Amino acid sequence: MYNILVVHGPNLNLLGEREPDVYGVLTLADIDKRIKLLATELNAQVKCYQSNHEGQIIDFLHDNRKWSHGLVINPGALTHYSYALRDAIAAIHIPAVEIHLSNIYEREAFRQHSVTLEVCIGQKYGRGLESYLDGLRLLVEHMSEFGEKTEFEKKSQ
Ligand code: DQA
Repeated sequence: MYNILVVHGPNLNLLGEREPDVYGVLTLADIDKRIKLLATELNAQVKCYQSNHEGQIIDFLHDNRKWSHGLVINPGALTHYSYALRDAIAAIHIPAVEIHLSNIYEREAFRQHSVTLEVCIGQKYGRGLESYLDGLRLLVEHMSEFGEKTEFEKKSQ
């Protein structure tokens, strides 16, 4: 059984009403429900968390570092500038997949750069809910391939 953290960053609590043309009409509760269904199929259990505060997200990652084998994270706008979040992902030493509902590469220039991607094993974007589901599948595939020790972990030992 894989233990997976699913983290949603700032403003994602407003999904459903927030710019639905960009982010879709599903609420965060809808998304978490679908993630949990897929997780069960993949023999994983997930802990979902959303915060609008960088420090609270970092605390959540620290607090759950010994429980979790992997991380699915949509850092929201923190993606583009939060070196603190990037360092936290690196510090907890578990494989992470970065998620975006929208296609950040076809939007404003500032969204096209991610400071968190370099500490992740991959990124899924532009497919709404499916970005999260693809990300979860990628993470579980990675974990089953690399076992307990991931490539990232080996590299940073
Ligand atoms: C987002 C893209 C970010 O640029 C933006 O700040 C978000 C959501 C996405 O899911 O498409 O809040 O991460």
